[in-house]
Amino acid sequence: MEKEKIIIANWKMKLSLDETLILSEEMKKKFNDFKGKNIVICPNFISIKEVKNIFKGSSVKVGAQNIFWEQKGAYTGEISPNQLVEAGCEYAIIGHSERRKYLLENYEMIHTKLKAVMNTDGLTPIVCIGENGDERKTERRDFVLVDQLNQAFGGVDIVGDQQLIIAYEPIWAIGSGVAIEPEEAEYAHKIIRLTLNDMFGVKVSKDNFRIIYGGSISSKNVEGFVGLENLDGLLVGGSSLDAEEFYKVAKIILK
Ligand code: PGA
Repeated sequence: MEKEKIIIANWKMKLSLDETLILSEEMKKKFNDFKGKNIVICPNFISIKEVKNIFKGSSVKVGAQNIFWEQKGAYTGEISPNQLVEAGCEYAIIGHSERRKYLLENYEMIHTKLKAVMNTDGLTPIVCIGENGDERKTERRDFVLVDQLNQAFGGVDIVGDQQLIIAYEPIWAIGSGVAIEPEEAEYAHKIIRLTLNDMFGVKVSKDNFRIIYGGSISSKNVEGFVGLENLDGLLVGGSSLDAEEFYKVAKIILK
């Protein structure tokens, strides 16, 4: 059976605390008629509890933009998976390319974070992978995705109905205003799906993993992504900062 699609908003560090709450209130109204749909908002850390409170009783869930790999200890400035669950998070983004670029996160760290999230009840990981502009121009492009998947998921045990999300985000498309062509997204998602089939078997790949696309999605280009065989949803940055625009995108992809 085909999985219900999911849409995830990544608000990055783009809003003040007040703006975060105002936008959450607007979204809550807009998404009133989206009962039972998979919608996730990832605000800044310090707004998580309040945002969760605003969306109480709606189908909008809250996620974290990052996470640490230990649950407790002397790790100044970090936030643990259990703390995020306590604050109301049900999802956690891991290894976003902006963190790989500016915070020098590597795949060893991403792998460790993934395991920590998987060992935390109630938290679903969203692992970001994707090639940069230079890699795209070379023959290595497909290999980059396979390699990133191996590094992040190699040796990970998936038990029961544990859900995992892989966000394919070609780095050059993020924030550029130009999304990848839908058929190119499908090509990349197919490579990801086949790699997961090899790593975990076809059943686990199909039942436990969603593959979603992220990078300059908007209400103007989202139609092209509807109906792609290996697309289970979207990760949306810029277009999620406006309630009406995000609503339009969600309506099209979740229909
Ligand atoms: P964008 O960001 O939609 O603004 O390109 C997506 C992301 O970085 O997750």
